[in-house]
Amino acid sequence: MKVRKAVIPAAGLGTRFLPVTKAQPKEMICIVDKPAIQYIVEEALASGIEEILIIMGRNKESIANHFDKTPELDHNLAAKNKTDLLKISEDLSEMANIHFVRQKEAKGLGHAVLCAKAFVGNEPFAVLLGDDIVDGEVPALKQLMDAYETHESSILGVQHVAKDQVDKYGIVDGALIADRTYEVKRLVEKPSVVSAPSNVAALGRYILTPEIFEALEKTPVGKGGEIQLTDGMDILRETQKILAYDFSGKRYDTGDKLGYLKATVEFALKHEVLKDDFKDYVKALAETL
Ligand code: G1P
Repeated sequence: MKVRKAVIPAAGLGTRFLPVTKAQPKEMICIVDKPAIQYIVEEALASGIEEILIIMGRNKESIANHFDKTPELDHNLAAKNKTDLLKISEDLSEMANIHFVRQKEAKGLGHAVLCAKAFVGNEPFAVLLGDDIVDGEVPALKQLMDAYETHESSILGVQHVAKDQVDKYGIVDGALIADRTYEVKRLVEKPSVVSAPSNVAALGRYILTPEIFEALEKTPVGKGGEIQLTDGMDILRETQKILAYDFSGKRYDTGDKLGYLKATVEFALKHEVLKDDFKDYVKALAETL
């Protein structure tokens, strides 16, 4: 069955990015000229997703506003003949079928995904995490969707991370069964560096079968006192095969201050309008360091 729906959890408190996230959703933090969540929505659409559900927490209304119509702004731009800007604004409000649901309590990623149960129904679906922005020739999600068409099993997107970083991620214990593809034997959320079964880490892209909801309903509270998606998938693995796919592309952790700065600089160096001037600036600056 084709993957048509995507879920974007955006209910986290963004504590790693305080103080900017005190009153502003981390998903709306700007990378060059777009909020982080727009990159995620664009990746989903470029991969062929037709319907998107954003799981929101309190104080996240600006995410919904960003993808809504803005008649006052559009009228103003039209009156001033700013047609290029008007197009940017109108395209944004029409770019996708986006739905919203509230996660009433911050009980973890697994609990957030469970809030998508009614939206998803009985079909496979994608999950994209807003902190992980991937830049590559083929969108990371598209790579997973292609792998899903071949194997028809739940798949999580992975890459190798530095061995001392494994305690930040869901880690895969798996066996390589095909090019870039592992069969998952076990999943562990944020293991300690000494106990981690590998350094193959889940990096914010998943295709899940709808049976994940039953698994999440019986997932006990895990790491950090939260219901973890990784644990739910590990329960699902007892009854269904789960794969991990080592996707290509450069991944930025934009929920982290340094990761965010790297993404900002590298995306600016590729930006259609800014790249040349920005490159000159960076080069000149580097000489002074
Ligand atoms: C979440 C998941 C973790 C995954 C990570 C990817 O953790 O729980 O399994 O590896 O995203 O970014 P978080 O970063 O929200 O703590």
